[in-house]
Amino acid sequence: MAEPFDLSGKVALVTGASSGIGQATAQLLGLRGARVAVAARNAARGLETVESIRAVGGTATLIEADMEVAADIETMVEAVLEQFGRLDIAFNNAGITGRAAPFHEQDLDDWGEVIMTNLTSVFLCMKHEIAAMLRSGGGVIVNNCSGAGVMAAPGLPHYTAAKHGVLGLTKAAAKEYAAQGIRVNAICPGFIETPQLSRFLEDPEVRAAAVSGIPAGVMGQPDDIARAVAFLCSGEAAYISGDTMFVDGAVMCR
Ligand SMILES: NC(=O)c1ccc[n+]([C@@H]2O[C@H](COP(=O)([O-])OP(=O)(O)OC[C@H]3O[C@@H](n4cnc5c(N)ncnc54)[C@H](O)[C@@H]3O)[C@@H](O)[C@H]2O)c1
Repeated sequence: MAEPFDLSGKVALVTGASSGIGQATAQLLGLRGARVAVAARNAARGLETVESIRAVGGTATLIEADMEVAADIETMVEAVLEQFGRLDIAFNNAGITGRAAPFHEQDLDDWGEVIMTNLTSVFLCMKHEIAAMLRSGGGVIVNNCSGAGVMAAPGLPHYTAAKHGVLGLTKAAAKEYAAQGIRVNAICPGFIETPQLSRFLEDPEVRAAAVSGIPAGVMGQPDDIARAVAFLCSGEAAYISGDTMFVDGAVMCR
């Protein structure tokens, strides 16, 4: 009998896999037996993820793709099918926080960049991933969202709107494709120590204030998210779809 959480034989695509949560998740999916398509904008950093998966006996390949470019997203999914013949798992993870500023000082360029990278790209990824999964009889999609998907992040109206939208896309697709064997869920990470968060936490006082708001008393690590994604992608989660999973040390339950 297969081990619980075993992903042998599966083909997984991870976007934004050159760093942080995406890198940790690509590595864990590889460790669980999936063949991993490492999608990254930065080829050199993406290759580091590929090499780390191969170093422990896994199978991985690099696909260069910029989530701000619609054509790249279509080509990315085509490349997975060309190289591995199918797509079973997709973790739509790439994202940016955007420039923080009071709402009335935000500009259209920042809005456009964050909405394209964090929301429109997820729509396009899902569109092409679902088409691929339908051809092989099903699959699993996990979208990386945020606490900002359900609660406002002051100074980041673009990020808040984009992440709320990601939950909408998740639920829309989960309902539409449930009968065709495609499960779609979202993860909402809390404070996870990655390059994206670190730049906000350089000041020890800011860091202490952030930690004091976490009931668990510690920041999360990329692996905490990776394990949750791997669970949602496994057969253990076979009846879970349309769900939003908070992985945040209890931040959002107050
Ligand atoms: N770290 C946290 O505390 C936290 C909390 C909530 C949600 N998230 C979400 O987790 C996801 C991953 O963030 P992270 O914390 O690992 O940060 P990170 O900066 O380490 O990783 C983000 C990844 O997205 C990639 N990326 C950004 N724009 C891209 C583009 N146009 N094309 C292709 N790739 C692009 C980056 O290159 C990087 O690999 C994001 O969607 C973020 O919103 C993070």
